[in-house]
Amino acid sequence: MVIVASMCLVTAHAADIENGKVLFEEHCVACHTVIERVRDKSGPNLRGVFGRTAGTEEYSGGFSEEMMASGVIWEVATLQAFLSSPAQTIRGTKMVFRGLRDIEARMDITCYLERVTGDGSVPTNALCAEGR
Ligand code: HEC
Repeated sequence: MVIVASMCLVTAHAADIENGKVLFEEHCVACHTVIERVRDKSGPNLRGVFGRTAGTEEYSGGFSEEMMASGVIWEVATLQAFLSSPAQTIRGTKMVFRGLRDIEARMDITCYLERVTGDGSVPTNALCAEGR
């Protein structure tokens, strides 16, 4: 009984990658693409973003000084923090987005990004793996 209950808990918190795609299209796609060899939109192309240091990719819009100086490495935890409130996480960022309060929505987007922006070689976060 206890085991069943804890398994339900894990399932409830597992990322929903399909939902992440929907949320990405709702909140991010106006400014970002994840498709290789497509030019940047108003925000940088997010291809290969996992494991990358913030503000180091070529980006036609030019990263803010604050983003380039942040030293943040993009992975699950740092994306969670950034997407909860970009302006508070990296003060002075040019990314005009109020943030997502819902941790599950952030997780869904993050795990969607992990799946579609990489070449499959990135270590998979356990919570993201649950959704596959
Ligand atoms: C209004 C346009 C806009 C929206 C909406 C937006 N972004 Fe951004 N994003 C930007 C800009 C501009 C930057 C560059 C910020 C800087 O240099 O300070 C950026 C930077 C980023 C970076 C850092 C990239 C790097 O290589 O360092 C990530 C990750 C990111 N955005 C993810 C997202 C996600 C996920 C969403 C949706 C939840 C989103 N953004 C919504 C415009 C946007």
